[in-house]
Amino acid sequence: MGPVFKYTVGEITYPDQKCGPVMPETAIELVDVNKWFDDFHVLKDINLTVNTGEKVVICGPSGSGKSTVVRCINRLEEHQKGVIRLNGVELTNDPRSISSIQGDVGMVFQQFNLFPHLTVLDNLTLGPMKARGLSRTDAEDRARHYLERVRIPDQADKKPSQLSGGQQQRVAIARSLCMEPKVLLFDEPTSALDPEMISEVLDVMVELATEGMTMIVVTHEMGFARKVADKMIFMDEGEIVEQAAPEEFFGNPRTERCRKFLSQILQH
Ligand SMILES: Nc1ncnc2c1ncn2[C@@H]1O[C@H](COP(=O)(O)OP(=O)(O)O)[C@@H](O)[C@H]1O
Ligand SMILES: [Mg+2]
Repeated sequence: MGPVFKYTVGEITYPDQKCGPVMPETAIELVDVNKWFDDFHVLKDINLTVNTGEKVVICGPSGSGKSTVVRCINRLEEHQKGVIRLNGVELTNDPRSISSIQGDVGMVFQQFNLFPHLTVLDNLTLGPMKARGLSRTDAEDRARHYLERVRIPDQADKKPSQLSGGQQQRVAIARSLCMEPKVLLFDEPTSALDPEMISEVLDVMVELATEGMTMIVVTHEMGFARKVADKMIFMDEGEIVEQAAPEEFFGNPRTERCRKFLSQILQH
């Protein structure tokens, strides 16, 4: 047997490759990212790398900056210091950088954000027709394909208000998928749902994760996190306080803040 090569990226060691190391592709990279709302320092030196296909779960108390991190990644908010790169392209105010984000990053919000006056099908075809130039027929084919994926193919002609919360959130996920993003960001996707509808949304997210989608998920659903996360992040007061693989994160949290937070949410 020849020599065994190993190489380490962050905390992960990769096994040997016959032709030398093949670096995993970095999908998202935040380097020393800082953001202020006026003089309120909301994000403090955020460093985070997400490789293609990785699932990262972010948790932490309300107001700790979780939404602001994901909103900076898809440019709904602007950071003031540090660098954010998506598939190697730095986020700037350059229109090319902005259109590249809009193409590559999908977002699922707590409040679904569907257009109430449009049918489910029209909610799904709008983006691909306007932003991707698809014909109506192609956009509808694609929409029906993804409605099938989230298991509500028969709801295409309804308005969002005629659906349950769980169904609406699955429409919102299908809408993101219709744009065929490289990365999906979820900001507390189940927090607005009645308890009995949470699992039907998490099940769809687990499937996406299993199929290799790169995901950042802000959630306090720790069962989901244990199942899919490659990396757990705990944020508090604008900082990443802990960053670890799930076994270590849940089994041996290093800080008192994280321990306290986990004991509070795991009680519920
Ligand atoms: N647009 C804004 N203007 C001023 N302060 C904001 C704005 N958005 C969020 N904040 C504040 O920034 C902090 C972090 O917010 P957020 O990222 O929403 O936290 P989380 O998602 O962890 O609950 C909170 O104190 C919040 O009040
Ligand atoms: Mg939030």
